[in-house]
Amino acid sequence: MTGIGTNPLVAHGYGRGVTESDADRWDTRYRQADPPARLSPDPLVTTLSAPGTPMQLSAPGTRLRSSSSGAPLRVADLACGWGDNGLWLASQGHDVTLIDVSRVALDAAAERAEALGVEVDTVVADLAAEAPPGPWDLAIVAHYLERPLLGSIHRSVAVGGRLACVIATETTLERHERPGRRFVLDRGELPSLIGSPWEIERFDEDWRPNDAHEAWLVARRIA
Ligand SMILES: C[S@@+](CC[C@H](N)C(=O)[O-])C[C@H]1O[C@@H](n2cnc3c(N)ncnc32)[C@H](O)[C@@H]1O
Repeated sequence: MTGIGTNPLVAHGYGRGVTESDADRWDTRYRQADPPARLSPDPLVTTLSAPGTPMQLSAPGTRLRSSSSGAPLRVADLACGWGDNGLWLASQGHDVTLIDVSRVALDAAAERAEALGVEVDTVVADLAAEAPPGPWDLAIVAHYLERPLLGSIHRSVAVGGRLACVIATETTLERHERPGRRFVLDRGELPSLIGSPWEIERFDEDWRPNDAHEAWLVARRIA
């Protein structure tokens, strides 16, 4: 496992823009909780590997592959938190970098990776200040709404690579107080945030099994 200080992104200066206030706030939250005992990736992420989806498996049970090259994907799990999505993809054989503003969350995610016997890179960075350089074959944004990041993330994704987003919409507030108005999308908003360098392969909004109303989007970078 690459340590936080030795990660190539960090060596090139990525992550220097982390502000203490953001990091402290999230570190405190993560210190007050225990990491989940089980991996619980978002259903959108696990369905990316299902037959008939854009990044389909060659056969059930085999590893998710880049359809063009057959190689493991370079994956960034952005604002990864405990890292469930990235760790699940690492367990499928992909080269995963977990990025978050909270070092506490990343340390916990790294411990979970070790327990699972998978390797991941971890990078502390403020995604509100700087997008990760990439290039990634798959960037995941789950439960983290930073509109400027969504508008610029194509620069971090290889042409032909994909973006997968799971973000609650305002409708979720009809049933839940959290995550709060600032952290939810307007209905139908997500495609307009990512702009035109993408071909949208999936976009739908609905009540999900977790009882949240979420926008799910998968897009392929075409320009
Ligand atoms: C609601 S959690 C979602 C975590 C994870 N993606 C998931 O789906 O469980 C939001 C995450 O965003 C991270 N975060 C908040 N502000 C950030 C920032 N400016 N840069 C990077 N990560 C940030 C937090 O540390 C936290 O882990």
